[in-house]
Amino acid sequence: MTDASTVSASRDRVAGHLVGREREIELTLAAVAAGRDIVLEGPPGTSKTTMLRAITNEWGIPLMFVEGNADLTPAKLVGHHNPSRVLREDYSPDNFVPGPLTEAMQTGGFLYIEEFNRAPDDTLNTLLTAMADRRLAIPRVGMIEALPTFRVIASMNPYDNVGTTKLSSSITDRLNRLSVDYQDAPAEESIVRLRAKPTSAIADRLVGDAVAVTRATREHPYIRQGSSVRGAIDLVAVAEQLAGLRSIASSDHERYTELVYDAMVVALSGRIHIDEAVDITPEAVLREIWEDRFVLEPAMAKPG
Ligand SMILES: Nc1ncnc2c1ncn2[C@@H]1O[C@H](COP(=O)(O)OP(=O)(O)OP(=O)(O)O)[C@@H](O)[C@H]1O
Ligand SMILES: [Mg+2]
Repeated sequence: MTDASTVSASRDRVAGHLVGREREIELTLAAVAAGRDIVLEGPPGTSKTTMLRAITNEWGIPLMFVEGNADLTPAKLVGHHNPSRVLREDYSPDNFVPGPLTEAMQTGGFLYIEEFNRAPDDTLNTLLTAMADRRLAIPRVGMIEALPTFRVIASMNPYDNVGTTKLSSSITDRLNRLSVDYQDAPAEESIVRLRAKPTSAIADRLVGDAVAVTRATREHPYIRQGSSVRGAIDLVAVAEQLAGLRSIASSDHERYTELVYDAMVVALSGRIHIDEAVDITPEAVLREIWEDRFVLEPAMAKPG
């Protein structure tokens, strides 16, 4: 799994499942093929899960998800003894219910911990020990040895500042890290085409507009965190349905642009996070973004 030609063939096959991301795929594969664990740091919707799923499918191993939060105790990660069976039969390895860490170690899977920086310190320490030793001593169960493909992959959102802790340097010094950011507009348009699978005649116009207004949410001064490409995917899907319901053609400029605004409200208003210091509704901010695209600079948004 780790000789150069095998890894390079893996890289090419994994790349076939994603739009772009060649560099991120190559760097992540290099880390995991080297036997290392890694933190992927980036905003939501930036292909972290898609990439990991493609890699674990390529390797034929499980991908296990865990969400990092204050309730993620070491016991939840490692597993627990079934309490009613313990009462009946006493502690035994048989009535141990493995948690995701133990399961990933035993099956040689990737344990994917989202929002890693929300997990409590003692949980992070348990993880670091498992990562360093590649085995885990579980009281009343014994020593669990990790299969060779076991990895811990963590993710963090750099915009996330509520309920997170800054990782201590004793933790960060034990981790590899890769930052992933939004892709460029042509790549996002390809992603939207791939995922929304637009079929109608106005789809071409919609894809470009959806990606443009979604990207504008990431630049707007009142928005702390804008929408990922997921917003653009949903915008196109919703707008296509609306166009059908209202019998609108893309050549009907005025009705088309109103349709885009309505679809923006549905697809984007819940996905943008307004700056706490500003008193404005998501709908009003979206209206501004819409005006920028369709009223102030209409040439940008004309078809063709
Ligand atoms: N490069 C890409 N190629 C193909 N599809 C992509 C790509 N990037 C994102 N997508 C699509 O966009 C959506 C979000 O991607 P994904 O779930 O991988 O993001 P994520 O980084 O795991 O987000 P989160 O941090 O919120 O979990 C999915 O529907 C995915 O299929
Ligand atoms: Mg994900």
